[in-house]
This record gives sequence, structure tokens and C-alpha cells, in this order.
Amino acid sequence: MYTLGLLWLAATFFTTLARAAFTLTQNYQGQSFFDAWTFLSGVDGNSSSNVLYQTREQALQKGLVSVNAAGHAIIKMDNITDGTKNPTFGRSSVYILSNATVSAGSLVIMDATAMPFGCSVWPAFWMQGQVWPADGEIDIAENVNLETKNQYALHTAQGCMHPSAEQTNATLETGTLISTDCFNETNYNQGCLVGDPSPNSFGAGFKSTGGGAFATLWDDTGFKIWFFPRASIPADLSSDSPNPSGWSTPTASFPTSACDTPNFFGPQSIIFNINVCGSYPESNFNPSCPGKCQDFVGVPSNYDNAYFEVSYLRVFTG
Ligand SMILES: *[C@@H]1O[C@H](CO)[C@@H](O)[C@H](O)[C@H]1NC(C)=O
Ligand SMILES: *[C@@H]1O[C@H](CO)[C@@H](O)[C@H](O)[C@H]1NC(C)=O
Ligand SMILES: *[C@@H]1O[C@H](CO)[C@@H](O)[C@H](O)[C@H]1NC(C)=O
Ligand SMILES: *[C@@H]1O[C@H](CO)[C@@H](O)[C@H](O)[C@H]1NC(C)=O
Ligand SMILES: *[C@@H]1O[C@H](CO)[C@@H](O)[C@H](O)[C@H]1NC(C)=O
Repeated sequence: MYTLGLLWLAATFFTTLARAAFTLTQNYQGQSFFDAWTFLSGVDGNSSSNVLYQTREQALQKGLVSVNAAGHAIIKMDNITDGTKNPTFGRSSVYILSNATVSAGSLVIMDATAMPFGCSVWPAFWMQGQVWPADGEIDIAENVNLETKNQYALHTAQGCMHPSAEQTNATLETGTLISTDCFNETNYNQGCLVGDPSPNSFGAGFKSTGGGAFATLWDDTGFKIWFFPRASIPADLSSDSPNPSGWSTPTASFPTSACDTPNFFGPQSIIFNINVCGSYPESNFNPSCPGKCQDFVGVPSNYDNAYFEVSYLRVFTG
């Protein structure tokens, strides 16, 4: 009994230590998923694109936001309206920002079974500070058109970098370094970019393999982002006490050795949006998509795959 008691005490002690790490502070799931978001409406303020974002009421009424039978949140574009006769047509879509913000000392987990894709489609799951670019931007899931590999990026004021190719090694990240300067004026706001090597991290590949989970750890060592395909999600990821220290090498890392993140990042709103055409899809249109981006906008069936299906979004702090 005495030995058992000691073992129990020891087990409790170490479990408590391990669990002290994170507490669930924001939980977006099921019927209440859309309760605490601000819907941005109108044209996209940030690119000359072909979209018309809807208010909460409009989006609900048009079925652009809903919760399906599986309890997953659907965030989608209008794939019913024919806009082919209207030269200034903007396709209805959704742009939502979380009312609550995320700060350093957080772990953000988003599990999805589908993310939008199709020629002209430009979706993103990302975070942005109040003043851009002074308060920073973190792009967790973003790409365009028919791409199947996700890209991770920071966009900041001048002086924040991703480590150079020489400073990068297999223990830092599994992703492919694309650009190192996060400054928004460098290379037309390209950002510091890391490409996911997995062809199932975005688009059709993501959806056909059951999607997966993106986990973003923001602590005093910088940012680490993991993409886990459905088949290799760590057992503790969906638990009440996920513990990133037991996970594999991150897909993308932005360590403080190259970016003084406390200086470049303020509290972030979490954002889901689906844009259409605009700079990014248009500059990457051919050869994967034929013709011009604008040729796609009027035809509703081009947007049948333009939806997020989100199992849950959770923010832990600690
Ligand atoms: C979130 O903010 C919007 C306004 O921006 C407001 O309409 C909505 O009620 C807020 N939701 C909660 C739960 O605070
Ligand atoms: C515009 O939005 C995209 C995500 O859709 C983001 O990557 C880009 O940096 C944003 N630009 C500004 C100026 O906010
Ligand atoms: C790998 O790179 C990181 C970040 O630049 C560095 O801290 C670490 O010491 C490097 N590890 C090895 C084994 O070179
Ligand atoms: C970078 O941010 C500054 C400050 O808001 C802005 O004036 C400038 O147009 C931005 N540049 C690009 C290429 O986004
Ligand atoms: C629109 O897209 C949804 C998936 O979001 C799909 O179920 C539906 O068949 C598509 N077409 C129409 C006309 O609604």
C-alpha cells in the first residue's frame, strides 16, 4: 500500500507537471462555431479581386456558413449564382475574424477535412495583428488555384527574417525554404515563405486524403507550425492537453534567432477567408489553369470545391 501510494503520488506529480503546459481558452466547434466572429463584408480591401464578402446575416441566409450533420463548420463560396452576363460580377464569399485574439504563449490547432480549391480560388487560414504590417501576419494555410502543397509565411515590418538556407537544417523544419525576408516591402510582399513538401497539405490532395490538422505554437522561441495528415495526427493533438514537445520536427519554423517576434507581432485575430482572383492566383494561373482568371468567376460550378470543412479550431494558452 505504502509503495503504491508513493507511486500514485509520483504519477500525479509528473502528470501535473506535464499538464501544466496548456489550458483550452478558445474552442470553436459544432453549432456554436460561428458565434464569436466578425464578418467582414464588401469587396476585398486587400486585392483587386472578384469577390463580394457577405455579412453574417447574408452568409447564413445563403448557406455560406453552416454546420453539417457531422458537426463540422462549413465556410464556402456561392456556387449557385450565374454571373456570366454581368461584367462587374463579384462572387459571394466569406471573410471572418475571431473576436478573441491570440498572443504569445499559445497553441492554435485547426483540424479540417477539406479546404477550398479550384482555378481562381484563393483561400487562407491565417492570423493578423491590428495594424498591418506593424503587428505582423502569420499565414498557416494558404495557396491558390489547383496547388496541392501548402505554404507557410510571415509578413512583417522591416527586420524580421526566416533563417537563411545556410542556417537551416533538418532539425529546424521539414519544409522547403522559399524566401527569407518577411518584410512586406520585399519582393512585392512575398513574405518569408516555407513550402510544405506534402502533396496532401492543400487542395484536392488534402481533401482526398481526409485532410488533417495544422498546429501553430507561438512561444518565446518564435513560431513553429506543424501539418499532420489525417493518418499521422499525434494522439494527444485532439486531447485537452496537447503537448508539442512530443511531436516530430515542425513543418515550418520561424525562430527568434532570425526574427525578434515580440517586436514584430501583436495580438492576432484568427481569419478564414476565400478570395477569387486578385494578385496571387493571377500571377500563378497558367499552366495549371487555362485562359484568364476572370473567365472563371461567372460560372458557379467552378466553385463546387471552394469550401472549408472544419472539424474544430482550438486555442490553448499556457
Ligand atoms: C463578435 O463581434 C461582432 C461584431 O464585430 C458581434 O456582432 C458579435 O456579437 C460578437 N460575438 C461575440 C460572441 O462576442
Ligand atoms: C491579404 O490577404 C492575404 C490572405 O488572403 C494575405 O496573405 C496578404 O498578406 C494580405 N495582405 C494584406 C495587405 O493584408
Ligand atoms: C540547426 O539549426 C538551428 C537553427 O538555426 C540551430 O539552432 C541548431 O544548432 C542546428 N543544429 C545542427 C545539428 O546543426
Ligand atoms: C507595406 O506596408 C506599408 C505600411 O502600411 C504600406 O505603405 C506599403 O504599401 C506596403 N507594401 C506592400 C508591397 O504591401
Ligand atoms: C455546391 O457546392 C456544394 C459543396 O459545398 C455541393 O454539395 C453542391 O452540389 C454544389 N452545387 C450546387 C448547385 O449547389
